[in-house]
Amino acid sequence: MGMTKSLTVLGIETSCDETAVAIVTSDKRILANLVLSQTEHEAFGGVVPEVAARAHLNHIDTMVAEALKQAGVGFADLGGIAVTAGPGLIGGVLVGVMTAKAIAAVHGTPLVGVNHLEGHALTARLTDEVAFPYLLLLVSGGHCQILVVEGVGKYKRLGTTIDDAVGEAFDKTAKLLGLGYPGGPALERMAANCKDPAGAVKKFTFPLPLVGKPGCDFSFSGLKTAARRMMDALEEDDKPDFCFAFQETIARILADRVKNAIAQYGNAGTLVVAGGVGANKRVRTELETLAAKNGLGFMAPPIKLCTDNAAMIAWAGVERLQAGLIDAPDFPVHARWPLDPLAPVASIKSQKI
Ligand code: KG4
Ligand code: ZN
Repeated sequence: MGMTKSLTVLGIETSCDETAVAIVTSDKRILANLVLSQTEHEAFGGVVPEVAARAHLNHIDTMVAEALKQAGVGFADLGGIAVTAGPGLIGGVLVGVMTAKAIAAVHGTPLVGVNHLEGHALTARLTDEVAFPYLLLLVSGGHCQILVVEGVGKYKRLGTTIDDAVGEAFDKTAKLLGLGYPGGPALERMAANCKDPAGAVKKFTFPLPLVGKPGCDFSFSGLKTAARRMMDALEEDDKPDFCFAFQETIARILADRVKNAIAQYGNAGTLVVAGGVGANKRVRTELETLAAKNGLGFMAPPIKLCTDNAAMIAWAGVERLQAGLIDAPDFPVHARWPLDPLAPVASIKSQKI
């Protein structure tokens, strides 16, 4: 038995408003990891799909060339090309997928169409040694789910949001506070200025939707509405306390739902958090404490790999290639694409696509 040769995979991510290109090896080296956050949307107060697709198109070729240069590899060295095939804004997804297909066709490289959510879900295995199965809290701008990750391509969903995604709650509340976009990090920075945590949570009491109830689903729309109502009487000086209490509430809601998932899952192992909201330090410590109390390990990828990036797509490509999951050159794109095809979809109001 000889050593298996290391694979080098190019990853491309264009499903929302980040153009991202990365090169990752099967021995877990990130040779390049480029992320360009589009600023074209600022004037519109939200992501405009057509604008996003055009911006991806303007930058993708130069970013691929730059990533290869940084990694010191050529197209001929690539053992695979992995690209987000959904879920997402379909114009942007098509730009990434057509780019990947063109390179693969010219150089004869194996192609993998990756589910963006699988990219988030497997990131912890790129940065750490996490064995299957594990419990995953996937929290981003468009998604809020608890999944059992049983293996590559094998997911069981235990819970999802019945209204908004948690990142959306952060973003919309931050917008009302005039903190800018993306709202999560801005709100976290404002919360860090709170001088009296105990006083802040007494002064600003938010509802805790579904907390204490059975099940693993989430709800955030009531929280958003309450935040909007409280905003009217808010002074500039109150913002740090308000943000602290809001963030505290979100951390409590997430922990309550994950507590039920741990009981339902009934397995030791590891709790993993992934997605942009997983970058929030308060959320991370709350989950770490919960995991420790229940005898689970805890893993959160570095912040740069929690928010959207292409290293996670390249890594998912590595895992899929190693499992023999190569896609045909004409594989399709998907605006919607649940990780667990058996999970009920009726309760999903919206996905940030
Ligand atoms: O995973 P991601 O980059 O994109 C999606 O797939 O949606 O997640 C973006 C979301 C945004 O809603 C952003 O406000 C939130 O993650 N986010 C945070 C933090 N950093 C990013 N939320 C709370 N605290 C943070 N530090
Ligand atoms: Zn994402």
